Amino acid sequence: AEDGYKMWLRYAPIPTSTLLQQYRRQITGIIIYGNSPTLRAAREELNTALPAMLQSPIPEIKTLRNGALIASPLSSLPSALKSIAIKEVQQLDSTGYLLLSTTANGKQITLITAKDDIGVLYGVFALLRKIQTQQNILQLKEWSSPKIKLRLLNHWDNLNRYVERGYAGISIWNWHTLPSYIDQRYIDYARFNASIGINGTVLNNVNANATVLTSEWLLKVAAIANTLRPYGIKVFLSARFSAPIEIGHLSTADPLNDSVRAWWQQKAKEIYQLIPDFGGFLVKANSEGQPGPQSYHRTHADGANLLADALAPYGGIVMWRAFVYDPKATDRFKQAYEEFTPLDGSFHSNVMVQVKNGPIDFQPREPFSPLLGAMPKTPLLPEFQLTQEYLGQGTHLVYMSPLFREVLQSDTYSNGPHSTVAAIADGSLLHHQLTAIAGVSNIGNERNWTGHPFGQANWYAFGRLAWDHSLSSENIGKEWIQQTFGCNQATDTILSMMMGSRETLVNYMTPLGLHHIMGNGHHYGPAPWSNHAPRADWDPVYYHRADSNGIGFDRTATGSGALLQYQPAVQQLYADSNKCEDKFLLWFHHVSWQHRMHSGRTLWQELCFKYNEGVMGVRHMQQQWNNIKQYINQEQFHQVSQLLALQEQEAVWWRDACLSYFSTISRLAIPVGMEQPA
Ligand code: GCU
Repeated sequence: AEDGYKMWLRYAPIPTSTLLQQYRRQITGIIIYGNSPTLRAAREELNTALPAMLQSPIPEIKTLRNGALIASPLSSLPSALKSIAIKEVQQLDSTGYLLLSTTANGKQITLITAKDDIGVLYGVFALLRKIQTQQNILQLKEWSSPKIKLRLLNHWDNLNRYVERGYAGISIWNWHTLPSYIDQRYIDYARFNASIGINGTVLNNVNANATVLTSEWLLKVAAIANTLRPYGIKVFLSARFSAPIEIGHLSTADPLNDSVRAWWQQKAKEIYQLIPDFGGFLVKANSEGQPGPQSYHRTHADGANLLADALAPYGGIVMWRAFVYDPKATDRFKQAYEEFTPLDGSFHSNVMVQVKNGPIDFQPREPFSPLLGAMPKTPLLPEFQLTQEYLGQGTHLVYMSPLFREVLQSDTYSNGPHSTVAAIADGSLLHHQLTAIAGVSNIGNERNWTGHPFGQANWYAFGRLAWDHSLSSENIGKEWIQQTFGCNQATDTILSMMMGSRETLVNYMTPLGLHHIMGNGHHYGPAPWSNHAPRADWDPVYYHRADSNGIGFDRTATGSGALLQYQPAVQQLYADSNKCEDKFLLWFHHVSWQHRMHSGRTLWQELCFKYNEGVMGVRHMQQQWNNIKQYINQEQFHQVSQLLALQEQEAVWWRDACLSYFSTISRLAIPVGMEQPA
């Protein structure tokens, strides 16, 4: 069915062509040595995909012949094959794969091999990706290992299936029917994730409910873990810090209290009896009302170490979130850095600190968080948000790979030049062994998983970049398009829509470094005028600081000083309002409405120009989409057309609301020739 359920694993028939003939010659039968659950998953995937794409039966065979496709770990291969592959496989890490076209016993064969079964499964998906994107597979010699060890989705799914900031239906985890009933969706979820290398998932919301840690619920968690395990995916849980009180009936959750320590140790033991490869805990503590160690005058490190010590005997880890901010702080931007940098060196070795990509909260554009690079003794993992909380939620087409890449490629200079966020995440900068990256999931129970069909691309891109952050957004986008919509003449147009979409959104929502000017609570739609939130740091006026002189948040030494949290080389990029890139200007400077921009326009004119550019960008996407109607199936075409129409209305809404409001403050008119607010 073309309802989007199959996402990028559609395995559509390859059209009749010389390429199809080549594939049919190249793959005539399958041999898999070994029969583990992971290899069975690999076999099943090949058996589903190959006959569908090649439209001919591809039987399992016993002996080598021309066109044999062999998928097995190196150790199970017959010695003749082993010797062909051994040199390359030795260069792989334990989960990487090798694809090799070669001859053995005089037969032309294709070999997928690896150190472990999971590498074989990754190799199978890599080969299927090549066929789906209609690439030549004649002379394969390709090996790949993931750059980052833990590639995680974070579900913000509550136990009642309401997904916090979720725009794709309710949670896919049906706790009611677990553990007895295994929904096919769980298996397909595992396949999609394995196909892009995701190898861990946190099942429940960071605003955690301790119930998930009760014995009854752990059985449900174990059932999910059993389902995902063959696909190389480990299960993690968000742990509520006060669980010893809520479900353990203790009077305290003080991390230095002996009964509390014993409770967590016992809980860890119970979990590992059910789930021997349980990944560990993710914790949001002392943030937005969540309980934490500070309630007992202990530090984040005391709290993290308590849980880490309980998990350590079994190899589990703690991912302790640095997302903290205090209503009394002078600049929310600064707080995670201020609270966490003094703790560097005091976390136990199985603790990672999880840092949101930017200092505020998943805005359409943020500079990288100054905490990234500022805790050299602690392994840090960047957290991205796939669900589009601040990026149009369920209705806007935004391809986020350029956002992820912008952050990953940012140079923190924390250990000299080339200290990129990516080099922090993959451990290469400071030689950390624990490496990870997290994406807040955009998945729900809608037929097509992500609600907006293009939301799938963000899930896809996150996985691909987590595996290899050097891939380009263009290549990832192209792969996704061809697998999702087929290989046809629409590819370039869809790619062009996607590649411009994030900048377009920034332009109609928060150009020139504006941020956090959306409506309070729901975070949907513009509200730059709001100043009545329960906390000042939830108010848009706190962030844009527009007055009769100008606009923007002075975070230089003359202002909040947040800029000083960065290395001098980064400070230099932003410190001078005349040199600072336009896109970050209002993040760091309060500048006059007459400030001269790099374009030659004044700030006010530029602001109007950018908001209009944003609206025009959406209209351009609409035209582009209309131009490729013939290549897209009707249902999907109609779905995206309607969403784009909604996006256009909302882009106009953002532009008109923001410019109308700011013009009352600047007392300047929208320049003649630009569309005027309705
Ligand atoms: C944002 C979001 C919350 C979420 C929080 C977090 O503030 O709006 O819903 O709980 O981030 O990351 O913990």
